[in-house]
Amino acid sequence: MNIAVIGAGYVGATTSVSFALRGHTVFAIDHDKEKIGKLKQASLPFYEEEIDGLVKKLAGNGKLSFTTQLDECIDKCSILFITVGTPSLMGGQADLSFVEEVARNIGNLMNEYRVIVLKSTVPVGTNAKIKKLIINELTKRNLKIPFDLISNPEFLREGKALYDALHPDRIVIGCETQKAQKMMKELYGHAKSKILFTSPIDAEMIKYASNAFLAAKISFINELARFCEKIGANVTEVAKGMGMDSRIGAQFLQAGIGYGGSCFPKDISALLALASENGIPLNILQAVLQVNQTQPEWFLEKVKKTLGTLSGKRIAILGLTFKPRTDDIREAPSLKIIDYLLQNNAYITAYDPKGTEHVKKIYPSITYTSNPLDALKKADAVLLITEWEEIIDMDWKAALNTVSAPFVFDGRNALDASVMKQLGYHYEGIGMPEF
Ligand code: UGA
Repeated sequence: MNIAVIGAGYVGATTSVSFALRGHTVFAIDHDKEKIGKLKQASLPFYEEEIDGLVKKLAGNGKLSFTTQLDECIDKCSILFITVGTPSLMGGQADLSFVEEVARNIGNLMNEYRVIVLKSTVPVGTNAKIKKLIINELTKRNLKIPFDLISNPEFLREGKALYDALHPDRIVIGCETQKAQKMMKELYGHAKSKILFTSPIDAEMIKYASNAFLAAKISFINELARFCEKIGANVTEVAKGMGMDSRIGAQFLQAGIGYGGSCFPKDISALLALASENGIPLNILQAVLQVNQTQPEWFLEKVKKTLGTLSGKRIAILGLTFKPRTDDIREAPSLKIIDYLLQNNAYITAYDPKGTEHVKKIYPSITYTSNPLDALKKADAVLLITEWEEIIDMDWKAALNTVSAPFVFDGRNALDASVMKQLGYHYEGIGMPEF
């Protein structure tokens, strides 16, 4: 099949690579000339290890090409994916202007039946609005071309995007006609995953509900961690015991300093905004947000209590990205941590394998190092913020000779508490008795 993927950001680039790998011919389109120029040189606008080398290979064998011109591809592509961004507006609502722009372009250029697939994360009800918009554009051209607008949400995780695109747990397709259903079956036919055919509005809701539920699991365990710590229980053991119940499941019960990234915070705000516009307060989700917003501060209060004060202290921050294996710092808890430490007059030295350059733009005056050990030089306390493997596996024994004081606060429960204690550290994790 020939496929156009409009929007060559994270989701678009991953979608393009995954379909090209399955043998389809993919045209990845973006209005950003610089981005397309770089992609033509096989340079990704983001860090995603698995995808990096594949772009060059797929472009080389003609399965994947990059362009700014939708008009040059639309006649040869039977399926058009919309994968542009939907950032948050001031009130938390999703900004649909990019999706609308693409829809107008499609309506302006389309000459025969097309399946248009909305993959961008959009508020519930958007499919119906975009459908009207495309019909309006066609009407302006005095045309009545049939088309199907499908909602096909994506469930990729950053850092594992290609794996998720190739081996999804499930594929959700919100679609209204047999014809479109058949084409989507053909497109995804190779996948062993379960396919759920449903209505567009349900597909849109499934995307938000899934992210909201995962975020709820995280906030649930994080709030419980505060309680465990108070009464001397260990949240990691508690989560392990809970997760053994297949009805609950072990994933997303890892207590820490809260979730970040470009998805959970944005999608939860958008869902809350939409529910509020509809007069339905989502109280549980409101609490999920509240716990997440206060988790970094709760963690830092612990640090402050142990150190007595943060003022004048040298604090080493290990990990800046919102999670490992990405360079993404959007809504990363590290940013709140840095803000708080600076407000409390602490000196910060930070290390991250991939995110440093982005954080440097926001905080140019703090010190950054090129390896984790250097960040620990003369530190009064070490805060582990992102569980990168090279941070977990660093030589913690050697680090003891580098730090000023042996305080380690593990915001991800990534280190082995008893090993750290044996080495001679004062170690504090999240939701566990003090070691
Ligand atoms: C998330 C979803 O997992 C994807 O299914 C979805 O497609 C994507 O959002 C999206 O909407 O585009 P992602 O943001 O890449 O993916 O990251 P996650 O792996 O879900 O982690 C999100 C945050 O939760 C991270 O900050 C992570 O550290 C935190 N987290 C995750 C925890 O604190 N505890 C956990 O147990 C799991």
